[in-house]
Amino acid sequence: MELVRWQYRNPYHDRSKDATRQFVFGPHVLTISQQPTQAITLHANTGYLVWDGAYLLSQYIYNHLSLEGKTCVELGAGSGLVSIVAWLKQATAVATDLCQYMDHARRNIQANGAQVGVQEVVWGEPLPGELAGKADVVFGSEILYLEALHGALLRSLKGLMRAHARAYLVYKDRGRGEHRFRERALHAGFRLREIPLDSEFDSEPYHLLVLTLALDN
Ligand SMILES: C[S@@+](CC[C@H](N)C(=O)[O-])C[C@H]1O[C@@H](n2cnc3c(N)ncnc32)[C@H](O)[C@@H]1O
Repeated sequence: MELVRWQYRNPYHDRSKDATRQFVFGPHVLTISQQPTQAITLHANTGYLVWDGAYLLSQYIYNHLSLEGKTCVELGAGSGLVSIVAWLKQATAVATDLCQYMDHARRNIQANGAQVGVQEVVWGEPLPGELAGKADVVFGSEILYLEALHGALLRSLKGLMRAHARAYLVYKDRGRGEHRFRERALHAGFRLREIPLDSEFDSEPYHLLVLTLALDN
């Protein structure tokens, strides 16, 4: 029995500086490494941190989704937390990102005894044959902050998704054109809805979007 409820946030501690972090999902405690010594900029090293959106999406997956027997692909996976939680929910999970993060994700997957595939997927570029059109579910956390890549990201989403697939994307409005992704997605032939997140930090505007292909009735 837990005496003190595990809490994600300690306001006196900067989590981005930790070399390892623990995340609790039901009885599972996941230990995830970060690389806090790498300088993080918009275009470099963002995958070495676990962003809050990854925790929120993981929580949503753990509490609300049934993934048994489903093929789940994560875009911009970084540390791999979301994919590991999809695996906890009995999905066949594949974490994808730029080549630079493959080893980082692999280490976290192995450290938690998870069975999650790791593949390079660069948004907008040709997909590995084994993933194209194979995803029942696509996940992405904190990947809408590069507005110039929205079109490329949407092409990858479309290329991955089976006809009745869903994509779950969590993002925070950081004033980098994130909200314009919705309009682009509608133009690209997706349907969209937003699900309210049960978040421990309601004061921050995190959004969970669910995308389906418009052919899906
Ligand atoms: C802010 S980080 C989020 C990482 C992780 N999803 C999380 O929430 O902790 C953005 C991720 O998108 C990846 N990314 C950025 N541009 C990309 C591209 N063109 N193709 C594939 N991945 C990309 C980065 O490498 C990084 O892992």
